[in-house]
Amino acid sequence: MIRIGIDYYPEQWDRALWEEDAVRMRALGAHVIRLGEFAWSRMEPKDGVFDFTWLDDAIEIISRQGMQVILGTPTNCAPLWLYQEHQDTIQWGRDGRPTDLGIRGHRCMVSPTFRQYAGRIVEEMSRRYAGRPEVFAWQLDNELENNHCTCPACRSAFRDWLREKYGTLDSLNRAWGNMVWSGEVSDWEQIQPLLAPECLPRWHNPACLLDYERFGADCTADYVRFQSGIIRRYDSQAVITTNACIPANMPDFHKEFAELDVAAYDDYPPVRLPEDAEELYSNAFVLDFVRGFKQKNFWILEQFAGHMGCWPPISPTPEPEMLSGYALQAVAHGADLLSFFRWRTACTGAEMFCHGILDHSNVPNRRLRELEELFRRLAQLPGLGDTTLRSPAAILYSADQEFALKNQTQSDGFAYWTQLRLFHEACVGLGVNVDVIREDAPLDNYQVVLVPTHLVTDPDLASRLEDFARRGGTVVITNRSGVQDKNGNCILGRELPTVFRDLCGCHVTEYDPIGPVKQTVNLTKGGTYQITSWCDLLELDTAQAWARYQGRFYSGVPAVAKNRFGEGTAYYVGTVGEKAMYRTLLIEAFRERGVPLLETLPQGVEVTTRSGEGGTYQFFFNNTVHGQNFQLQGERVHLRPLEMKIRTEKEVWV
Ligand code: GLA
Ligand code: ZN
Repeated sequence: MIRIGIDYYPEQWDRALWEEDAVRMRALGAHVIRLGEFAWSRMEPKDGVFDFTWLDDAIEIISRQGMQVILGTPTNCAPLWLYQEHQDTIQWGRDGRPTDLGIRGHRCMVSPTFRQYAGRIVEEMSRRYAGRPEVFAWQLDNELENNHCTCPACRSAFRDWLREKYGTLDSLNRAWGNMVWSGEVSDWEQIQPLLAPECLPRWHNPACLLDYERFGADCTADYVRFQSGIIRRYDSQAVITTNACIPANMPDFHKEFAELDVAAYDDYPPVRLPEDAEELYSNAFVLDFVRGFKQKNFWILEQFAGHMGCWPPISPTPEPEMLSGYALQAVAHGADLLSFFRWRTACTGAEMFCHGILDHSNVPNRRLRELEELFRRLAQLPGLGDTTLRSPAAILYSADQEFALKNQTQSDGFAYWTQLRLFHEACVGLGVNVDVIREDAPLDNYQVVLVPTHLVTDPDLASRLEDFARRGGTVVITNRSGVQDKNGNCILGRELPTVFRDLCGCHVTEYDPIGPVKQTVNLTKGGTYQITSWCDLLELDTAQAWARYQGRFYSGVPAVAKNRFGEGTAYYVGTVGEKAMYRTLLIEAFRERGVPLLETLPQGVEVTTRSGEGGTYQFFFNNTVHGQNFQLQGERVHLRPLEMKIRTEKEVWV
């Protein structure tokens, strides 16, 4: 079954409401209640003085209704007494100064003093609650980012990390190419990766920045390991996760979740849908990305339940069916638990206009009725929980590319995330399940592997992709691949795409980073598409031209190439096209591999399939605010705005 959860903050409400809230949440259909996160000052009002009686009561009230809890460790928000007593627990900004206190997330996850206090509160909670039947799972901290703290502890931890990696300054100087601008380091103390934001990242050494991001990712992963290790000492069977978001400082999620039991995400899709059909807005990519953290089904620990508004102005109210549509979109991409943020809109604090299920009035509203209906529907599909997504296609994701391309924008408007999503959107629009996998994941189960922009590369990936193609797979790889080595330095003496050249059967003679300018390409088999951002001028070795540029001095030069490689095929896409170009290319690639396609879906309708012991369920989601009609095996299907229809293997709509 799909578990229903609700996020609840008992410490924010009068005690008199707890019982009634628990009864109402249960009546609505909840199985688990997430609580505890952010409540450190209530659990430890003074240094070493603990009070869990209120949490005991809340848990008891919830379990009396037959529900379990997901317990959050409160470490995102240290109490103010801690910051006052121990200033070395405060995070420092990129300006090299301690952060102003007042909101949340101000702790330095590396600080030994902070670790001592965080470790103690997690230990107190574990001693009291770990292994108890009321506890369904644990959530660590909240929405962790890559560690960018610049406090003295973090600076010295970065130097230790580099010492461990490079051993000597000589080898670090060589790896980073520090002869440039007299950057040679002669004392570890000289390493100052952390400049003010206005200097970053343009003038800094990209090789150093890449290592700095990798270090940040290791800090975040280590922090997660540190907390989960404590809980596991008290309950080796504990189910532990943390709620991811997609922040500007993106961590390496594969590392972060490596030792956790399940991946989890906070799902806040856009309330305002764009009118422009070319805009990439589907939330589906992120959901597949999250499923890839552990290559299995995942949880949503915050599923949006009302109009957003806290720091920014309040968003429009969600359209009818938007809450249930997006909740089902998460299920369609592999969510097995949906916990809704939050039971009632806060009356106090910064998020008093960030709407939960209930409004301040506390009376049943349209959103509550919509969710009631959704929970009833899910309860009638108990087999769903015993299904997963099986995908013929995979998109390779790599945190290194995320880091490197963020620090070195290749062309005005060029973004790694966009490259990934262009391929993804084409897959869901054709009804093809697609996994987003880490770069070193096995490829054997796939028929088509999509490799958008692998800038920082290693020859090992190239030979794995060659093996995959040789045995009959299709690889699609794009511009800016094979540019840098593992240190983030450009590869000398080989034409692009360097290590991928044999596979692609073509090379780049010149490139033109055209930025926002729009140009066109003509397909060899007919058809014209708009392109933008980047133009690789290709020369064919063994490949055939799939598309050629039209216009400018390189009219007629190949832009996209297709190469037979062993039993398989490789496409090299030397430019960034409009959405329809990816659709056309993937239709061809999937057809060649015999992957079944739904080619009649209108733009904005997304289809995925979950299957397994619990049956087969095909999800048809209208991710637009307009009604949609299409033909499906002779049947006319209509979808209301934001409606999700589900079809079983018996071709019955449920
Ligand atoms: C994040 C946080 C929540 C809350 C929501 C809504 O996802 O985890 O605590 O702040 O955003 O803004
Ligand atoms: Zn720090």
